[in-house]
Amino acid sequence: IDVVCDRADLRGHIARWRRRDERIALVPTMGALHDGHLSLVDLARRAADRVVVSIFVNPTQFGAGEDFERYPRDEAGDIAKLAQAGTDLVWMPRVTDMYRPDAATTVHVAGLTDGLCGPLRPGHFDGVATVVAKLLIGCAPDVAVFGEKDWQQLQVIRRMAIDLDLPVTIIGAPTSREASGLARSSRNVYLSAAERPAAEALNQVLIDVASRLTAADIDDTAAVPAALAAGIARLQALGHRPVEYLRLVDAETLAPLRLPPQAGRPARLLVATRLGTTRLIDNIAVARE
Ligand code: PAJ
Repeated sequence: IDVVCDRADLRGHIARWRRRDERIALVPTMGALHDGHLSLVDLARRAADRVVVSIFVNPTQFGAGEDFERYPRDEAGDIAKLAQAGTDLVWMPRVTDMYRPDAATTVHVAGLTDGLCGPLRPGHFDGVATVVAKLLIGCAPDVAVFGEKDWQQLQVIRRMAIDLDLPVTIIGAPTSREASGLARSSRNVYLSAAERPAAEALNQVLIDVASRLTAADIDDTAAVPAALAAGIARLQALGHRPVEYLRLVDAETLAPLRLPPQAGRPARLLVATRLGTTRLIDNIAVARE
């Protein structure tokens, strides 16, 4: 496995592979890698000949008072896991190389960032869209893989890649979960033993709300608010505080749905909560049979 910091060194590897007509996949990450990240690497390996994983804890996507300073970091452990998973190259840009002091450009994806996590984390998706655009331009992969765990982020990145004519195919990877159903996350290390049971119950609450929604009459205007209110009450009783949102949305546009999921229209149930100092997000598909 090779590890590079400089964009010029990255370009050297990419050019060598391009001369051999090899297809290149990029998996952007912020490190503190877990099996969810490695499942993205697996998918990337099946989609391309060469896999590049970037590790960059992007300061511009963290808000004031968020966990940038304490975000878990484990370079040596990450590189060992990536070597084991069959990664060809690890790209670890330095903050000063990524952001010149006089930088004046950000990428803003309108609409998709207006709801859900957008208003709760001002500037977050601008930080994500900008850094992902820079990572995609720097590496110029054929495909890039992102997790469905961060559903809103995935939709924002798809829109950005289309709107900027980036010649890359964005692939979404299913959420990797622990046996309990808890979605794997670098931030799960923040959870105390006392908080774990509530975190582990989050996915089951989503599953239960989703089955209630798919069982409702398709024209029952009371069904969505009732199912969501019941889900929120259950999360609060488990100790999630606050429940930032629990919403049923169109899977692609993220527009809120007032009616239960209709046949053939992909819907998604998304949740964000806090348990102590840990912010948790999760989401599942809601499909009528
Ligand atoms: P990070 O949280 O490190 O996640 C890197 C990638 O792994 C993202 O595409 C994320 O959706 C995916 N991922 C995380 N947990 C997952 C899980 N349990 N199952 C499947 N995929 C999972 O997301 C980011 O970093 C950053 O915002 C980034 C896109 C790298 C831009 O800075």
